[in-house]
Amino acid sequence: MTEGVKPGEVLLDPFSGSGTAPLTGALRGLQVCAFEVNPFLRFLSGTKLREANPSTFRKESSRVLLETEKPMPSLLEGYSTFTEGNRWGRWLFPKIVLRSFEAGRRLIIEADVEYRDLLQLALIGAVMDCCNATRDGKCLRYKKGWEDSEATASQFRERFEIRSEAIACDLAAAPITGIPYCVTEGDARRLVASSSHEKFRLCVTSPPYLNSFDYSDIYRPELFLGGFVESNKSLTNVRLKTIRSHVQASWERPTKDEFGTLYHDCISNIRENTENLWDKRIPKMVQAYFEDMETILRGLRQKAYNDTSIWLVVSTSAYAGVEVPVDLILAEIGLRTGWFLREVGVLRYLRSSSQHVKHVDEKDRKSVPLRESVVIFDASKRLSI
Ligand SMILES: C[S@@+](CC[C@H](N)C(=O)[O-])C[C@H]1O[C@@H](n2cnc3c(N)ncnc32)[C@H](O)[C@@H]1O
Repeated sequence: MTEGVKPGEVLLDPFSGSGTAPLTGALRGLQVCAFEVNPFLRFLSGTKLREANPSTFRKESSRVLLETEKPMPSLLEGYSTFTEGNRWGRWLFPKIVLRSFEAGRRLIIEADVEYRDLLQLALIGAVMDCCNATRDGKCLRYKKGWEDSEATASQFRERFEIRSEAIACDLAAAPITGIPYCVTEGDARRLVASSSHEKFRLCVTSPPYLNSFDYSDIYRPELFLGGFVESNKSLTNVRLKTIRSHVQASWERPTKDEFGTLYHDCISNIRENTENLWDKRIPKMVQAYFEDMETILRGLRQKAYNDTSIWLVVSTSAYAGVEVPVDLILAEIGLRTGWFLREVGVLRYLRSSSQHVKHVDEKDRKSVPLRESVVIFDASKRLSI
């Protein structure tokens, strides 16, 4: 991954998500700069880069474990689908689990910041292990027979111990020491070209896929549990700052509609098929997505050295049976924003998609194979690779 980048040089990931690229970079001695719009994911990627002493962490986590034996009422009790007694008749957490979690959470408020974040991560991980629903693709799905197999307080504590021990082992096995890093919460469209971050030597990132998947929605429990959002209104504010790759928020309409020939052919085809789309805003979403990605690629170019490279992992998508060759369209946009295209490499083919069609009989649905690719750009032409 390091592309001849030397320790101390800057690795940028404008869509850090759970922080795979920042962690890999930091372990190789690179200076990490990352952005993430989702406050829980920002916390997750930042916490993975924390320096902490494993034995101190173990001591702190034993204190938290003891405290979880004294359950405390949680503000989330009775809120939305968090606990029993709501109008939907299903709930995410047994009350006793939420109360044990809350007891631990209150204790760690006083802890030093590096230990506090690590402990909070273990607590959130443990409470999510006790959730009545699991993440399944784009949504949270209730487990089969969850009503009869809800987790107990002692199962929650067991999960906390396991999670804490895994963190302590990671801290011991792969210590990150003295590496400067910065994981900023915010909108990459604004941050990539901002003067507050320096130039970068390598960017490895996976922007949101154009698959109408809203990452803020799927992390809703963690966002509330960690106190990263306190109401649906603040969750909506997060959504409005995400790349326009989904239709779950009333984002601003795009104004540009010119992103090269492949885009032109694809969007014309989708627009002609509007009546077969499961949501009439999809053509606007596709247009807005490429407008956002153009902003990103242009912003990145402004902060690139001559020997900077960017690696984008993306996936194609399909709507009403029309393939959107996201990798190839981004390749064209990159060229138009001052990048040299080195390669579009297919990483793997994904399950065919026919779900994005409505009003069409199952038998007549056209299934489109999707691919995940890496698109590599260089700031200047490479004479030899
Ligand atoms: C494909 S995921 C990244 C996955 C990541 N590589 C990982 O290891 O988890 C895309 C990420 O972009 C984030 N995102 C969406 N819109 C954003 C924006 N405007 N600015 C910054 N991050 C954004 C999403 O919250 C999501 O975490």
